[in-house]
Amino acid sequence: MGPLMILGYLVGGWITTHLLIFLYNLYLHPLRNIPGSRIAAISELYTSYLLITGEYCRRTLELHDKYGPVIRTGPRELSFNTLTAFNEIYGGRLRTDHVYEKNPIAYIQGTHESKNIFFAQSKAHGRYRKILAPAFSESSVREVEPTIKYQVDGFIRALRDRRNGQGNFPTKDGVVDIDAWATYIVFDLLSALSFGEPFGCVEKGEEHPWVTNIFGVITHATWVQAAYRLKPYHKILEKLFIPEWLEGKFTRHLDWTKKTLKKRIENPSTKKDWLTFYEKGLDEEELFDSFNVLIAAGGETTASTIAATLYYSTHTPGVMEKLVKEVRGRFASDSEIDIAEAKKLALVRAVIDETMRIHPAVPVGLPRIVPKGGRFIDGHFVPGGSWVSASQMSACLSPMNFFEPRKFHPERWLGDKRFENDNRGVFFPFSLGKRNCIGLHVLAAVLMTMEQFRNCSYHIYSHEIDLEFRHRINARKQGSFDLE
Ligand code: HEM
Repeated sequence: MGPLMILGYLVGGWITTHLLIFLYNLYLHPLRNIPGSRIAAISELYTSYLLITGEYCRRTLELHDKYGPVIRTGPRELSFNTLTAFNEIYGGRLRTDHVYEKNPIAYIQGTHESKNIFFAQSKAHGRYRKILAPAFSESSVREVEPTIKYQVDGFIRALRDRRNGQGNFPTKDGVVDIDAWATYIVFDLLSALSFGEPFGCVEKGEEHPWVTNIFGVITHATWVQAAYRLKPYHKILEKLFIPEWLEGKFTRHLDWTKKTLKKRIENPSTKKDWLTFYEKGLDEEELFDSFNVLIAAGGETTASTIAATLYYSTHTPGVMEKLVKEVRGRFASDSEIDIAEAKKLALVRAVIDETMRIHPAVPVGLPRIVPKGGRFIDGHFVPGGSWVSASQMSACLSPMNFFEPRKFHPERWLGDKRFENDNRGVFFPFSLGKRNCIGLHVLAAVLMTMEQFRNCSYHIYSHEIDLEFRHRINARKQGSFDLE
């Protein structure tokens, strides 16, 4: 037999094996009766394509709209959008063998070793959570309130006083790119809280290279996940297809974190920052890995929520005027603003909740693995090892759960009768259970102090709300609004 013939047999065998796998996935797989995308059910190729094109969340939502509360989104993967599914998948479990572990597919970068709260499997997770969570409690966030207010004040001043259009400062007409500015303030704040020193984005009116790099890290993670879904071809796919400009982003992020943390450790601060909470509980590697994820996990989510809050409140007629009235009615001047008091303002809260409903900062379903032996979810038996998730976007933008789900209606959180049948129980922007977000009080504090914007009167753009904005994972919007 000649080499060409051997090659022919090998290729033929490879094609036949894959065809058989495709047929098995479609007609014999235990999940075969769950409705959904047939092309996604055959192979991971389609999901990988959706991930790298940023269409994954939108497609999942479309499939839920078409087929209902449970859909098949991959050969061994299901997506749900009901309250019972959220509780089953993410809610607390007493026995560790009943826990739906985080699916490593979503968290593969670098050496795959994780010494941090975000990626650790549940046994190790408990210890990290115990050490890290106290720094994020409501009372601890109050302790760092002066740093938050100081940074937000600088941000307001930069927008008000430096109008020359240079370095992304507002133009002479007062136009700013709010997406960029929300990024500046959030990353400055996170670095001030983590390392005692802001990145300096607000001061310069431009993004620090570390911040630009972090957005690259997030995009890189999506590409790596897309490749790993196609195991055993992942290594070669990573080499061939991950764009060159993303190479080295992750390593650079780690280097930056290491260098900055080291500098902070060598220069003890008198101000309260997160290191003061963690120094005792974590070893050097864990400390470094924790800060590496805190900056990445807290930055993009918070910045996009702030940009979206300002975007929707300035683009929905009447909302900004009412907000200004409510905030001015409670606080006569900037210096009076107090986070705990601001949280009591009903419209402010409703606007923030409605923004997070219509624009979830984490729109994608958080991927989990069904425990050994399988579980029933919404009446469907799902075998152990299957991949499952319930996503905020699929739940919160579904007409099954909300009236006029794709319209911005803060009134739905204020008892308006039109929305009395809304299923507000599925609103979990910070997830739920033992792995819910520890940073929610930080977000609340930043948003509340942000209301200092009330002293600026807004020139509201009248164009339509950009639906693309919230439909893309990791997309960066170049929206702008006028400051007068
Ligand atoms: C709008 C702002 C934010 C949103 C919507 C958000 C959302 C989430 C969600 C959905 C999770 C669950 C992830 C999963 O299970 O895979 C999570 C976890 C987490 N978030 Fe946030 N987050 C925000 C801001 C922050 C901030 C400011 C920080 C801190 C600086 C932070 C730190 C964390 C950490 C450490 C976890 C892991 C918790 C654990 O596994 O125990 N987040 N976040």
